[in-house]
Amino acid sequence: MEKILVVDDDPSILKVVRMRLEAQGYRVTTAFDAQKAIDLAADNRFDAALLDLKLNGKDGIQLMQDLHHINPEMPVIILTAYGTIQSAVAAMKKGAYSYLTKPFDHENLLLQTRNCLERSRLTKEVKNLKKIVKERYGFENIITKSETMQAVLDQVAQAAESDANVYIEGESGTGKELIAKTLHLASARKDGPFVAINCAAIPETLLESELFGYQKGAFTDAARNKKGLFLQAHRGTFFLDEISEMPLSMQAKVLRVLQEKEFYPVGAQKTVKVNTRFIASSNKNLEAEVKKGAFREDLFYRIHVIAIHLPPLRRRKEDIPLLANYFLNKYARETQKDIAGFTPSALQKLMLHDWPGNVRELENTVECAVALATENIISETSILADHNVAESGLRSLKDAKEDFEKNYLTQLIELTGGNVSQAAKLAGKYRADLYQLLKKYGIKAADYRRTPH
Ligand SMILES: Nc1ncnc2c1ncn2[C@@H]1O[C@H](COP(=O)(O)OP(=O)(O)OP(=O)(O)O)[C@@H](O)[C@H]1O
Ligand SMILES: [Mg+2]
Repeated sequence: MEKILVVDDDPSILKVVRMRLEAQGYRVTTAFDAQKAIDLAADNRFDAALLDLKLNGKDGIQLMQDLHHINPEMPVIILTAYGTIQSAVAAMKKGAYSYLTKPFDHENLLLQTRNCLERSRLTKEVKNLKKIVKERYGFENIITKSETMQAVLDQVAQAAESDANVYIEGESGTGKELIAKTLHLASARKDGPFVAINCAAIPETLLESELFGYQKGAFTDAARNKKGLFLQAHRGTFFLDEISEMPLSMQAKVLRVLQEKEFYPVGAQKTVKVNTRFIASSNKNLEAEVKKGAFREDLFYRIHVIAIHLPPLRRRKEDIPLLANYFLNKYARETQKDIAGFTPSALQKLMLHDWPGNVRELENTVECAVALATENIISETSILADHNVAESGLRSLKDAKEDFEKNYLTQLIELTGGNVSQAAKLAGKYRADLYQLLKKYGIKAADYRRTPH
């Protein structure tokens, strides 16, 4: 039963309000002066209070503040005579929940009381939930103070409670893998393995035997049985990184594993059962890939049970100083350098940058600045140095090389119609290495693929 404190110096008002609220099942305690109200509040936990604004000519706002001092969460409804609305508004600015003008309407009294109790309940619930999440999942390794990321962490905590498949979407370097690992460690599977595969970095021809393993004699090189990655993730978590890059033929096979939780190793006659939770990630909008026909819709729905969107760093700039200092400490410790921090203009420069490579780019920038630092503070000249060079009209050799490389790669990918294996052959590079280069320059092979008609 909810407890309500009513304070008024007019006994007839106390009587009416008590009668009406008690008729609704609330427990009502009354007081006719400020001191009595404060004493009562000190000994009882009230869920709400109704206060007369003019108590024996004294200021009800002061009483409200005294009560809030004792119980900051208790919502207060101000009772005020007609014509003093001005002061009621002032009371709201100082933290009152709402006000009622006397003589008050029966319905309105009940409605306001119900609303403010509901709000008080919600505030308590949210606070409780946050406390639980904080206590149970420290998430110390995830540095953030932004609200959007806080919401992400709440989602991670919820996902950790379940065994549902999780999909993480976010630009390159936003922390998808970090979130996936954190989720694994927060879940009941934490003592099991965390196995990750980058679907884009493994050649198409090897992907199947990597994932499913093979039986001795399945092909010429298969001298022994090989346990695939899926099986290695038994009782743990399997992370399918960059799932949008998985070839369609492979998608069909993976879908089967997600549905049946069993599969045939290459060349095997019998299926193998596997118990694992799947987390998939992508830096592309997977829904758009589905619409384009590049990603299977049924697989999309299978992995998309819980969807987590990581905001880019430029949308949470309040995290930049926090992350920058975190990485500074990390790399100063590693290199055993004594560096106190950034100059204000260095921090400003970090804040103004757009960070297309997100947290990873920030981390690299700070690592580089720490490595080059000769003083105990990092100034703006030692961060994002390329940008200064560009501004002064002179380009560094590194910039020029990178420009050439980017152009070359774009042409190469265009020429091969987005076929990374073929492009790798032409460039004399391993497919995985070429892939890394494409990633560095943000060139997406899929954008150059010629769709068959
Ligand atoms: N909030 C954070 N707090 C601390 N470190 C972070 C945070 N977010 C990302 N990082 C760090 O930034 C780097 C990049 O993160 P991660 O590899 O998880 O990103 P990603 O989204 O998987 O990137 P990509 O798409 O390029 O694979 C890692 O070193 C990671 O530890
Ligand atoms: Mg990643």
